[in-house]
Amino acid sequence: MEHTDILDLFKDPKKFIGKNVKVCGWVRTSSEVKPMTFIQLNDGTTSLRNLQLTINADSYSQDEYKDKIKPALSIGTSLYAQGTIVASERNIIELEISDLKVLGECPLEYPLQKKKTSMEFLRTIPHLRTRTNFFKSVLSVRARLAYAIHTYFSERGYKYLQAPIITNSDCEGAGEMFRLTTKPWNATSKSEEEYNASDYFTCKAGLSVSCQLEGEMAALGGLGKIYTFGPSFRAEHSDTPKHVAEFWHVEPEVCFVDLKEIIAIAEDFIKYILNDAVNNCKEELEFFDKFVEKGLIDKLHHVINSSFAIVDYTDAIEVLKNSGQKFEYPVSWGIDLQTEHERYLTEVVHKKPVFLINFPKDIKAFYMKQNPDGKTVAATDLLVPGIGEIIGCSERETDLAKLEQAIKVRNMNIEDYTKYLDTRRFGTVQHSGFGLGFDRLVMYATGVSNIRDVIQFPRTYKHIY
Ligand code: 4AD
Ligand code: MG
Repeated sequence: MEHTDILDLFKDPKKFIGKNVKVCGWVRTSSEVKPMTFIQLNDGTTSLRNLQLTINADSYSQDEYKDKIKPALSIGTSLYAQGTIVASERNIIELEISDLKVLGECPLEYPLQKKKTSMEFLRTIPHLRTRTNFFKSVLSVRARLAYAIHTYFSERGYKYLQAPIITNSDCEGAGEMFRLTTKPWNATSKSEEEYNASDYFTCKAGLSVSCQLEGEMAALGGLGKIYTFGPSFRAEHSDTPKHVAEFWHVEPEVCFVDLKEIIAIAEDFIKYILNDAVNNCKEELEFFDKFVEKGLIDKLHHVINSSFAIVDYTDAIEVLKNSGQKFEYPVSWGIDLQTEHERYLTEVVHKKPVFLINFPKDIKAFYMKQNPDGKTVAATDLLVPGIGEIIGCSERETDLAKLEQAIKVRNMNIEDYTKYLDTRRFGTVQHSGFGLGFDRLVMYATGVSNIRDVIQFPRTYKHIY
């Protein structure tokens, strides 16, 4: 269908004044102020900016108006419109209609009428909520952040690696892997081994919780610096505003880099992508600043322009213990911090993003580099106000014996890690990496407080939207 994108019209509006153009889109709102009729049209190429179509009712007979124009006024109707672009004080440009065709009618039971709706209600219509200003803006910022991530890495010599989603190793060792099977529901097997052996892959298989191990194998396998960017899956029983069963995960893995250096990379990376969003998603962020999180844009500027705090886990535990704050989960050295602790540290103590470093080794994954104290690992979580953890990061253990020991201590099956352990046998090097929860980053960049509202179709504990 020959047409011009609304985005292109507004990029250089002057160029189009006096020109005849054809546009397509959906009716956002309409109004009749006799003899004029106005339609706000949006084609998705802009999140918030609509093209106003103006119709002079006097140029139509009553019957013509009823047959041709009236059906084009309902919210949600899709249109093909032709006319002349004219200058407008209020809207920069408008389209004076010479021809209008309804492409798809939208009856009144369309649930997105011009009235306030709740986020909870919108979650029940995930396939339609993308028509709202809110979701168009969220998905637009999301798309831009993804673009900035690819740009950041590719401009710095990282190779984009596509690691498998089907895997037989639970990278994090937290037992949160979704199982994958083709066996019928009533399959009877005498043992787990027998069950797995007769399944599609003849072994246990599941959906990847993280591409880190494949990433390490590629980086140490000679590529040096790689990143993955794809979905990860976790069968966590966490029904919270920041957990989903399927999330998007950015995972760089970098050779010849220690914990301090990967922290510097992570900070530079976060600042780069947020800065990109600030510069390229102005309208959307202004919208979020107004309706979702007051002061959002100032917050983002502050994050981009200040250095993140780096705090030792052991010191943070002391701060929490001496805070006088009543936490639901009591604090002592050795605990895995809960969101309430993370948020206290970033929101009350530091008021900015915090890298918490040197966690107790017993609460962390097997692959993290063990510190000389014998108790902690060279790992860090990046905590941000409003959310808590958005990045999990570490220097990796390169000592084969220590790594084998860490696998055994956790009762993991060492045979599943043969290929991975080879990377420590054949020309191993110091290396580090991190995992950024992309959906949580989108929450942080937009101020949206529930992860269900930054994903088109969220999958959460007990719910497929
Ligand atoms: O801290 P995690 O578990 O770290 C890893 O998976 C490492 N293998 C990453 C690496 O070093 N390559 O997960 C990393 C991040 C978390 O900080 C969080 O932002 C996000 O992934 N994440 C989730 N996001 C949404 N829903 C969930 N259920 C998530 N689980 C983790
Ligand atoms: Mg983590």
